[in-house]
Amino acid sequence: MPKIEFVTERRVVEVEKGAKLPDVVDACGSIFPFGCRMGSCGTCRCIIVEGMENLNPLTQAENDLFETLTSVGAKERLGCQLIISGDVKIRA
Ligand code: FES
Repeated sequence: MPKIEFVTERRVVEVEKGAKLPDVVDACGSIFPFGCRMGSCGTCRCIIVEGMENLNPLTQAENDLFETLTSVGAKERLGCQLIISGDVKIRA
């Protein structure tokens, strides 16, 4: 089973392949921050420390939001848009 490490919390959870990050956060009680959960507010902006290849491709919502920002790093994603297929390390 894939593992998600929440770096800031020093918490590691095992998830089903195909799990959505918001569902994982709700289930494990993580403090990972969400707002709209629809890819429009940016509250869940995070850095993928490791495992970008184990996530779904950038969604349209992420592309749309990131286009409005002046600086977005190559390792940044929106947590509410993430689907997990393998091990990932995330820093909120
Ligand atoms: S929670 Fe609003 S963009 Fe992810």
